[in-house]
Amino acid sequence: MHVAIIMDGNGRWAAQRGLPRPAGHKAGVRAVRSVVEAAARSAVDVLTLYAFSADNWSRPADEVANLMGLLELYLISETDRCVENGVRARIIGRRDRLSPALVRAVEKTERATAEGERLTLQLAVDYSAREAISGAARLAALRRDALKFEDCLADAVHAVRGASSVDLLIRTGGERRLSDFLLWECAYAELVFVETCWPDFDEKDFQAALEEFHRRERRYGRVPPIAAATALRQTG
Ligand code: FPP
Repeated sequence: MHVAIIMDGNGRWAAQRGLPRPAGHKAGVRAVRSVVEAAARSAVDVLTLYAFSADNWSRPADEVANLMGLLELYLISETDRCVENGVRARIIGRRDRLSPALVRAVEKTERATAEGERLTLQLAVDYSAREAISGAARLAALRRDALKFEDCLADAVHAVRGASSVDLLIRTGGERRLSDFLLWECAYAELVFVETCWPDFDEKDFQAALEEFHRRERRYGRVPPIAAATALRQTG
């Protein structure tokens, strides 16, 4: 099962407490840690977290620096824990605009956790789904292998191959949009929007979203079996 999360509401969480925005992002990292561990204990194979969108570069420079610093710290401090928990961690998105120090931390974490088999954690950093899809189209044209478009899509952003369909997309913070996240991959995703701001989203909320997902009927454009049987009886 592939779960993707748009972690929204760090800024509002901080504002509600009279704290500066970086305090919200710092609290957001704690939520990342607990949700990654909850996912590793659940029937989730791939967890993709939207950590920094391509559009987030337009935030104030100090906020961008703060987020990049938190990411680097997270990678440095969590790598051993990922190895212990069987988590294979990687980042998806563009890498050419990241600082050399962050790229080094990413590559080190990816190498160290490459054997993790319980959960694949993808942190989307400098990610844009539209850019990913157009990058994949360019790759497919070069490779003249349109049948493997989904592999091109994975390769375009350094994602794992074979995890192209998101089953469940969760967005915290009360907004209801996709914000250029995994547009292709979410074609048949079940969408769960929660009011909770990301720093308050915990294991209980994560499990509740999984339960909500299991209550949904996924039809992929087909009619439900009971309706199909009824229609057959009426025509037969
Ligand atoms: C949205 O909150 C959140 C982000 C733009 C970044 C998410 C980043 C983290 C949780 C911390 C770093 C991540 C990792 C993986 C270590 P917002 O600032 O847009 O909140 P607002 O809408 O309330 O202003």
